[in-house]
Amino acid sequence: MNKPFGNSDQTLSDYVTELYAPEDEVLREIRDRSAKEGLPDIQVAALDARHLEILVRACQARRAIEVGTLGGYSGVAIVRGMAKDGSLDTIELEPKHAEVARESFRKAGFAKRARIHVGSAATILPRLAKRGPFDFCFIDADKEGYPLYLEWAGANLRPGGVVALDNAFLFGNLAKKPKGAMASSIEAMQRTHALLAHGGQFRATVLPTGEGLAVGVKK
Ligand code: SAH
Ligand code: DHB
Ligand code: MG
Repeated sequence: MNKPFGNSDQTLSDYVTELYAPEDEVLREIRDRSAKEGLPDIQVAALDARHLEILVRACQARRAIEVGTLGGYSGVAIVRGMAKDGSLDTIELEPKHAEVARESFRKAGFAKRARIHVGSAATILPRLAKRGPFDFCFIDADKEGYPLYLEWAGANLRPGGVVALDNAFLFGNLAKKPKGAMASSIEAMQRTHALLAHGGQFRATVLPTGEGLAVGVKK
């Protein structure tokens, strides 16, 4: 028997969330302030923030990169996973989001360890390549861009470096035939998984979180 993928028992997730307490005061304040500032309520779940911190710790990252900052919720979790000399470069298209995130990093005590780059990831990633190689890369922006961002990660992570991709299930649409309004994002997410699963650069899996967290280790 092959056991099922994932678990949807709410009592288990409540138990784990209470025990591991993934959302402290700092993260809760970021979530609240982001909502108050009118940002979309799409930051990673509290436990997913903890997953990110733990992945960062596990690969002993000192240089991390994030595509899609929003209000800095996941970014703070990533910086928390790094030693004191570790720093994050995070890319955000929307100046308003970047402004909220700047305050989040400041409040978390990470003003000097998080650099926010405002603009499109396709423009900024090539410029950041010279700061590499990187140890950890979190991809969480426009889904059409994922193939390009993953390709960049493949070229700019050190061997043993880790890439993590949020929304790997594409809101339930990953396995659908690309058509209709979501055709381009379905096509892009399927291409991303193909690249991750058998592009030759990563050993990878998909952790069955609510959104799906794809994780690859650079060979
Ligand atoms: N990682 C964040 C959530 C990111 S939401 C967290 O969990 O806290 C996705 C973000 O990506 C949004 O803020 C959006 O403005 C940004 N984004 C969308 N397209 C982008 C692009 N092409 N380049 C950079 N950022 C982009
Ligand atoms: C949504 C959620 C995300 O995690 C994301 O990165 C983008 C959009 C959403 O629920 O719409
Ligand atoms: Mg996301």
